Amino acid sequence: MRSASSAGTSLPSSVAEGSGLTLRDPPRAGKREWPSKLLKMLLFVVFIPGLVVGAIFLVQMSKYSPAGSAFFSGSLPFCRDKFNLYIEPTHWVNPESWLRGLPIHHNMSDEELLWLASMSPRRRGMPIARVPKVAFMFLTRGPLPLAPLWEKFFRGNQGLYSIYVHTLPGFKLEVPPSSVFYRRQIPSKETRWGDITMCDAERRLLANALLDYANERFILLSETCIPLYPFPFVYNHLVLSRSSFVSAFDDPGPYGRGRYNPQMEPVVSKEEWRKGSQWFEVSRQLAIYIVSDTLYYPKFKDFCRPACYVDEHYLPTMLSKELGSKLANRSITWVDWSRGGPHPAMFGKGDITESFLTKIREREDCLYNGHAGSICFLFARKFSPSTLEPLLQRASEVLGI
Ligand SMILES: *[C@@H]1O[C@H](CO)[C@@H](O)[C@H](O)[C@H]1NC(C)=O
Ligand SMILES: *[C@@H]1O[C@H](CO)[C@@H](O)[C@H](O)[C@H]1NC(C)=O
Repeated sequence: MRSASSAGTSLPSSVAEGSGLTLRDPPRAGKREWPSKLLKMLLFVVFIPGLVVGAIFLVQMSKYSPAGSAFFSGSLPFCRDKFNLYIEPTHWVNPESWLRGLPIHHNMSDEELLWLASMSPRRRGMPIARVPKVAFMFLTRGPLPLAPLWEKFFRGNQGLYSIYVHTLPGFKLEVPPSSVFYRRQIPSKETRWGDITMCDAERRLLANALLDYANERFILLSETCIPLYPFPFVYNHLVLSRSSFVSAFDDPGPYGRGRYNPQMEPVVSKEEWRKGSQWFEVSRQLAIYIVSDTLYYPKFKDFCRPACYVDEHYLPTMLSKELGSKLANRSITWVDWSRGGPHPAMFGKGDITESFLTKIREREDCLYNGHAGSICFLFARKFSPSTLEPLLQRASEVLGI
């Protein structure tokens, strides 16, 4: 774009004038008219047989294509041809249905899903009233042992959140119809920690959540995560935030830049390489960027393999480079690395005391919309299933849930 327009303006004026003159040149004289006999012959030789071939082609199309009848009647199923999307045409013509979102029980492939989710309106404002929602995206192997705490957290806040659960493909989440998790499982695929399938699962969750136009913030959680504040507080903190909570930092050591592969040049240079926690929170703008990416993804897929853990580098690196000013550069999910080793601490029943929970909640050194604040984390991990009971006991008193 930039080079094209600068080339346009730097064109020497003599050339521009020269080309103007050629345009004003009168049509060259002396050109003989085509003999009308020859023209008529051409009509028979080329045009008439062309018409016949065209007609045969159309008849064949209508016979073999499943959308054949629609081809002539001009109705909608045309959009199924390439992507076979199971979308009711009424979805697009009834504005109320935009906010209901597309069904999450669909048969779309990842390619179809990401493509559809990458669409975004270019016009300012929205012609219908919309209450923004927060999408809670649970990435888990199977069950959600802390679900009762989350149920308590969500209760009474219908319309302000949506839930998406990605499990291992064979797993069926058994919850009663009264549960907030009821029928919130998305079509899932095999996912392994540390490789590209993890990013695929994250993108699958984002894409499903993007199909609901009301979703404005997107938080990735695991089955070991807990909320630290009541829902209304969490909701306001996220919806009113100008930044997305993605942790991203430059680690010069072996577990940071040491994992960089020079074959990623020129898409990613060593200086642009970032590291961060997998557990992100992003705005709709960033979510759309992530599902739309076809530039960085192949580089990370090919050149960031264990001992390079792609879920720790792909989003921090890409988002820092492309949308750095939108990032808070810190995670909104607390985790304890103080015990050392490759994995953060897992807390058990005995750890859940009032002072422990209060300590996680109270920090005093985090920027929020440009101001110093005391809230650093809205969520925490990793809590084992045994913590459920003591957490439920202290939820209302300590966490306000
Ligand atoms: C998806 O495909 C299955 C099997 O082909 C079918 O039973 C189901 O109704 C389809 N779902 C949707 C939403 O079209
Ligand atoms: C986060 O880092 C980016 C550079 O990668 C910077 O532009 C941005 O201002 C930082 N955000 C905050 C809140 O400091």
